[in-house]
Amino acid sequence: MLLSWFTGFGAGLLFLHFLQKLLFPYFWDDLRFLLKVVRYGIKMEMYRLRGELVTVLDKFLSHARRQPQKAFIIYEGVVYTYEDVDKRSSRVARALLKHSSLKRGDVVALLMSNEPDFVHVWFGLAKLGCVVAFLNSNLRSNSLLHCVRTCEPTAVVVGGDLLGSIEEILPSLPKHVSVWGMKDSVPQGVVSLKEKLSLVSDEPVPPSYHVTSSLKSTCLYIFTSGTTGLPKAAVISQLQVLKGSVGLWAFGCTADDIVYVTLPLYHSSGALLGIGGCVELGATCVLKKKFSASQFWDDCKKYNVTVFQYIGELCRYLCKQPQREGEKDHRVRLAVGNGMNSEVWRQFLDRFGNIKMCEFYGATEGNIIFMNHTGKIGSVGRTNFFYKLFFVFELIKYDFQKDEPLRNEQGWCYCVKKGEPGLLISRVNMKNPFFGYTGSYRHTQSKLLLDVFRKGDVYFNTGDLMVQDHENFLYFWDRVGDTFRWKGENVATTEVADVIGRLDFIQEANVYGVPVPGYEGKAGMTSIILKPNKPFDLQKIYDQVSSSLPAYACPRFLRIQDKMETTGTFKLKKLQLVEDGFNPLKISDPLYFMDNLKKSYVPLTKEIYNQIMLEELKL
Ligand SMILES: *[C@@H]1O[C@H](CO)[C@@H](O)[C@H](O)[C@H]1NC(C)=O
Ligand SMILES: *[C@@H]1O[C@H](CO)[C@@H](O)[C@H](O)[C@H]1NC(C)=O
Repeated sequence: MLLSWFTGFGAGLLFLHFLQKLLFPYFWDDLRFLLKVVRYGIKMEMYRLRGELVTVLDKFLSHARRQPQKAFIIYEGVVYTYEDVDKRSSRVARALLKHSSLKRGDVVALLMSNEPDFVHVWFGLAKLGCVVAFLNSNLRSNSLLHCVRTCEPTAVVVGGDLLGSIEEILPSLPKHVSVWGMKDSVPQGVVSLKEKLSLVSDEPVPPSYHVTSSLKSTCLYIFTSGTTGLPKAAVISQLQVLKGSVGLWAFGCTADDIVYVTLPLYHSSGALLGIGGCVELGATCVLKKKFSASQFWDDCKKYNVTVFQYIGELCRYLCKQPQREGEKDHRVRLAVGNGMNSEVWRQFLDRFGNIKMCEFYGATEGNIIFMNHTGKIGSVGRTNFFYKLFFVFELIKYDFQKDEPLRNEQGWCYCVKKGEPGLLISRVNMKNPFFGYTGSYRHTQSKLLLDVFRKGDVYFNTGDLMVQDHENFLYFWDRVGDTFRWKGENVATTEVADVIGRLDFIQEANVYGVPVPGYEGKAGMTSIILKPNKPFDLQKIYDQVSSSLPAYACPRFLRIQDKMETTGTFKLKKLQLVEDGFNPLKISDPLYFMDNLKKSYVPLTKEIYNQIMLEELKL
């Protein structure tokens, strides 16, 4: 009797087990991940209940007390311990306190490449309770000026190697903005912060300067392209910094990990996930000024790197490197990032060994994040019943002709079927707030969709098209709107069109991205209508774009059209142009190619076209 009961019970369990495997194959993965998230949520909630607000700076300071001698940053072979970074950032705070009238809440723009001083200045300013605005270090002239103006800073701190960029715009900066350079000798109008640092003490700054009253208070501005117009400064709260910095932990990193960061720190993934992530764990960060495919694995071996951060391009470049001996001979066990295409993903694992690739999806200013906690190649993550409890998101039908979400007769949007690409939108509410952008409310509003499924509901428009498959895995499809991605950066088409349109022989410039084999994202292309009776000058276009735009934003191709399409909308026209691409055999209009060796645009011949298609010519 008892025996049969037991076997019955056993068989039942076995049956349940198989049923679960069959119907919910990812149940345990999903649940494990959920528990992790919940555990973190509870921790945060406990802090809140105890009235303790713990920011990323507080976490850093507590590591600096508990493990002062542990390496925090390793840069060009030099080790900066937690104590070193703490002391130098205190110097930055004290120097600015002594020589300026900076106070809590003031905005300070930071224009610096990846180097330890980026972190010193960032943390130093955080110790004073200032809001730090990260500027893209590739920006020049008008684009840089636009970004500085957008965040209305009291001061700008500039890295030693970027003083040239600030010098160009110095006369146009508002008078009350003080400019500080991290170099001993600085141009006129700039104060040397480096010199001042050696003259102040490295004693801690009293916590009263930086204690926050709310995790919703603004901590950083990080520039993003949004979906339209010029770059915008997304308002990043303390809470978002905390959320961003738990990424490494959520993917299973620990304090013993050595994290290789080659991505620019002015983007949220480098700063929040990378540096913030190391602070959260108390781990070590190997910081690189600029990603180098040829030095990548040597660095990993030299510093015993265990984790690295990637974007799709980075892994593609690594795969394109010539084969070497012992490519699997390293300690890297995990990589965290986004934008990896499944073909590159497979190639990468084949060649460099069994590295856990952790794809995630999340916009800087967004209120939603996906992680591939189950590890399906190519997918950015998976949604499930649990996840839906926390984040309400939908994929809605998109009208590519009009470039806006499709609405039915009653004016409501509708969801796509599984397997179809749809625009990812996520519900904005108390639990998932959207902090918006600085400046005009119009910018913030333009990212929100109202009255989506019913009157009064509000959704954040990510501007990304995604596909959800039958197992609820999500895949990135494309970006919509007036931006495209190239070399890991977002290019705002209106900004490029503005720069070209300033030339006196251009009547109209229409900028878009075209796919090129062997590359992630889209290469910039501009179709131009010339003014009659003005001399057309390719050299001038080259000089104009290369002096005003960062390299990644310069159009690789030009197309000269003699008339505008008279039918359809402006957007319709773009769609057709993108479809046409840059094939000289198909397009009868004159086409040109940006030749960086000749430093000019040259006619796009059949030979050049073939070389590009065969991936022999680098863009
Ligand atoms: C890397 O690990 C090896 C073996 O554990 C050790 O001898 C070496 O000192 C480590 N290198 C660094 C830079 O920490
Ligand atoms: C993400 O996917 C990879 C498979 O390529 C897997 O190895 C990894 O475990 C996944 N991430 C997490 C957090 O499990």
